[in-house]
Amino acid sequence: MATVGSTLSHVYPLGSRLNEHGVLELGGCDALELAREFGTPAYIVVEDDLRARAQAFVQAGRSAGHQDLAVVYASKACACAAVLEVFAEEGLWCDIASGGELALALRAGFPPERLLLHGNAKSESELRAALHHRLGLIVIDNFDEIDRLRRLLAEEGHGAPGAQPVLLRATPDVRGETHEKISTGQALSKFGFGMDEIATAIQRVREVPGLDLQGIHAHVGSQLLDLAPFRRAALALSTLGPFPVWDLGGGLGVAYTSEQRPPAIEDYVTAVVEAAREHLGPHTRLLIEPGRSLTANAGVTLYTVESVKRNVSTWVAVDGGMSDNLRPMLYDARYEAHLVDRPDGSHPCILAGKHCESGDVIVREALLDDPRAGDVLVTPVTGAYGHAMANNYNGVPRSPVVFCKDGHARLVQRRETFEDLTHRDVR
Ligand code: LLP
Repeated sequence: MATVGSTLSHVYPLGSRLNEHGVLELGGCDALELAREFGTPAYIVVEDDLRARAQAFVQAGRSAGHQDLAVVYASKACACAAVLEVFAEEGLWCDIASGGELALALRAGFPPERLLLHGNAKSESELRAALHHRLGLIVIDNFDEIDRLRRLLAEEGHGAPGAQPVLLRATPDVRGETHEKISTGQALSKFGFGMDEIATAIQRVREVPGLDLQGIHAHVGSQLLDLAPFRRAALALSTLGPFPVWDLGGGLGVAYTSEQRPPAIEDYVTAVVEAAREHLGPHTRLLIEPGRSLTANAGVTLYTVESVKRNVSTWVAVDGGMSDNLRPMLYDARYEAHLVDRPDGSHPCILAGKHCESGDVIVREALLDDPRAGDVLVTPVTGAYGHAMANNYNGVPRSPVVFCKDGHARLVQRRETFEDLTHRDVR
C-alpha cells in the first residue's frame, strides 16, 4: 500500500497517509482511534476532500471558459445531511429524485431555485411540492407527467408570470461502457423520451400555460471511465435544439482500485464544455450532475474482523457487509481492503460480510497481512452509494457517519439502535 509518512494510493481521501505508528490517518485522524471512539462499521468522510472536489468542478468550468456552468450534486450518491450541507455551502445545485430527497435538500439549506427534480415516476404529491417551492428545474420524463403538470397548474392557478422552468429528458441512444444496471442512455431505457417522440413532447410542453421549457436533459450512465460517450450524447442531442439550457447528466467514473485511472475532473469538465460548445451552441447554460465523483473517494468504511476461517480459502468475516455496501452484490463491484495498522498484506483472503447469504462478499481477493479477530480493516471508496443504499438486512442497525477534518472527528449521523429498528411498529 505505502510506507510510513508517504501519501497513499489515489483511491483514498485526499491527504490520507500512514502516521508515525504506521496506522492509516484520515483527515488527520488515526483510524484505530476512530474505530475505538465510534465503533464499527462506520462510514468515515474527509470533509476537505468533498470540498476540494466540489471546487475542482466549479473551477474547471471557469478554466474551460464556460460562463454559465451549474454543477448539480446528484444527491442519490449520498444524501447524508452533513454532506448535503457541504455542497450547499459550496454553492452547488442539487439533483433530487424524490420527495424525500427534496425534504433533505431543503433542510440542508439548498434554496429551491438551486434544486432540480428528476424521476420517471414522480407522484402527484412530489410534483405539487416541486410547483409549490418553484424549483429551479423539473426534468420531465414522460407524457403522463406533462398531463399531470398541466392539470396541477390549472387547478392551483399557477401561470405566467413566474412560470415553472422545466427540461425534457431525452434518451439519446448513446451507450457508455458500464454495468448494465447503471446504463441509461440506450434506446431501451425506462428513462426519458425516445429521440423519435421528443419533438412531440417539446410541442406538448410548449402548449402548457405555466411551464417554461428551457432545454433538454440526458444522462448516459454511471461510472463511465471514458469521455467519448459524453461527446456522443452532445452530438445526438444537437438535432433537437436550439435551447438556452442543456443538462448532460452525471456519470464520471472514479477509481475503486489502485490500478484504475479515471479521467480527472478537469478533463471531464473540459470535454463536456467543449462538446457542448461545438454541438449545442456557444452561449448556453450548461448543467452537469456529478454524484459519485464528488463523494466516492472522500469516504471509507471501517470494519472490525470478527473471525478468520481457513478452508479452501481464507475467509475474513467482518461486522458489516451487504447492509452497509450493496454494490458488490448488485453490480459485482470491486473494492480493495487493508488492515489499518498493517496495510502491506500479501495473503489472498476473501473478505466476507456478516449477513446470512453466501453472496455477502465485500472483496473477492483482498491481500491482507495475517488478519486476526479484532483487527480493524478499511475498504476505501465507499463514499458514494454505500450509505445511500444501506439497509437493515438481518436486523443490522445502519452505520454512523463521521466527518474528519484537521485531526478532529465529528459524528454527523449516529449509529442506529435496536430501538430505531422497532420505532415504526404499531402495536
Ligand atoms: N443524473 C441522473 C439523472 C442520474 O440518474 C444519476 C445516477 C446521476 C446524475 C449521478 O450519476 P453519477 O455521477 O453518480 O454516476 N447505485 C449505483 C449508481 C446508480 C446511479 C443512478 N443515477 C451504483 O452504486 O453504482
